[in-house]
Amino acid sequence: MTSTLFRTKKVEQSILDTEEPEHALRKSLSALDLTVFGVGVIIGTGIFVLTGKVAKENAGPAVALAFVVAGVVCALAALCYAEFASTLPVAGSAYTFSYASLGELPAWIIGWDLVLEFALGTAVVAVGWSGYIRSLLDNAGWHLPAELGSRDTAHGFGFDILAAALVLVLTGVLVLGMKLSARVTEVIVAIKVAVVLIVIVAGAFFINTAHYHPFIPKAQPVPAGGGLKAPLIQLMAGWAPSNFGVMGIFTAASVVFFAFIGFDVVATAAEETKNPQRDMPRGILGSLLVCTTLYVAVSIVVTGMEHYSKLSVDAPLADAFKATGHPWFAGVISFGAAVGLITVCMILLLGQTRVFFAMSRDGLLPRFFSRVHPRYRTPHRPTILLGVIIAIVAGFTSLSELAELVNIGTLFAFVVVALGVIILRRTRPDLHRSFRTPWVPFLPIVSVLATLWLMLNLPAETWLRFAVWMVIGFGVYFLYGRSHSRLGRHEEVTADQIPKHGE
Ligand code: ALA
Repeated sequence: MTSTLFRTKKVEQSILDTEEPEHALRKSLSALDLTVFGVGVIIGTGIFVLTGKVAKENAGPAVALAFVVAGVVCALAALCYAEFASTLPVAGSAYTFSYASLGELPAWIIGWDLVLEFALGTAVVAVGWSGYIRSLLDNAGWHLPAELGSRDTAHGFGFDILAAALVLVLTGVLVLGMKLSARVTEVIVAIKVAVVLIVIVAGAFFINTAHYHPFIPKAQPVPAGGGLKAPLIQLMAGWAPSNFGVMGIFTAASVVFFAFIGFDVVATAAEETKNPQRDMPRGILGSLLVCTTLYVAVSIVVTGMEHYSKLSVDAPLADAFKATGHPWFAGVISFGAAVGLITVCMILLLGQTRVFFAMSRDGLLPRFFSRVHPRYRTPHRPTILLGVIIAIVAGFTSLSELAELVNIGTLFAFVVVALGVIILRRTRPDLHRSFRTPWVPFLPIVSVLATLWLMLNLPAETWLRFAVWMVIGFGVYFLYGRSHSRLGRHEEVTADQIPKHGE
């Protein structure tokens, strides 16, 4: 039994599977496409919305340090991701990596976990987008009925129609093909980066340095009744839950970590990359570096423009300009944010359908989902199925806590990938690795510890929800995946069984 749970898929087999014509995705992305892709998904709700919330509630101006902490954790993980992605250029990201190194059950757990990350991440960003659009519509004098805008209306019922509509439209775009989405992405990413640069450059003129004192506000006890909302580490250590201070920086880091989610999605596009051996590491590390620099600069500027206690939690970047008497800038920023969030949403949706596709191709989910569209060569079935489910979730659910659930899922995947690097070096030292993580096993171990530390700073209730999702995943695996696994049925594809095809 144990041996079947930990059966591993050969690396060569993973690469070979992608050659089967009816399961093959188009290879059309370059290193630049990947970096644009990365920046396109990384900059989003995290910097545009969460910065204000954590500065106000957890860290003050030290939110800039929280971005550094989260960025370092991501950089360590990125070095591990890059080795795996350059060794295993197949769809599915951490799922595929762990199938080759840790075995089927861990791979299933990771795949299940990534579906949660991407699906809820898409929903969170769609709702953030809808908020910005509604604020722009309000400026123009058009007001949507409250029931169609927010799930927290006094009426008790709400369906965020804009968020749901966005997810459905993007689903259609993805079904039509990768290349189209990459082109749309390029234009939108340019607008988004321009807006972030406007915030940094224009905002720098309105900084009042008095707002930086104190840079790390003193720790303050949280009023009683917080219970499971307190970070797990504070409950475990028996500390009275507190905000601000040094621990506040870590609490903030575990939340703003959401702002970095996406560089791992670059790895999920490996199979659609022209030269993954060279381009994956460049794409992943490049996009991470660009984003970390921008985040730190934005948070320093924004907390300098307005006192942290006064920052808005819905649209902090735009509102900081309003507060300094520059509503014109605020309008431009709101517009850029609304446009920019579209790509984030689209790429998360893409990453998620690709993981689902890879799991289905391996037989762990019904193989019906891994037949690509005969004309567009995209995995249209999981794209449509998941797109509809996410649209409903985005329409009906109140999402602030779900962002934390997305974070815990992603951080968990980091742990598995870092362990996977160490294991695969031992079990398959012969494999060609065009990018090698430096200082193995030291660096991956540090990556695991740093990631676990961030996870422990998430609320206890987030851990509980994550545990429930994972228990459901175990159920699905033991009831379906284990007996239908292609690997388990020895349905390996050999080179001479692959029909010749013209692509
Ligand atoms: N990193 C992405 C965002 O901040 C998911 O929206």
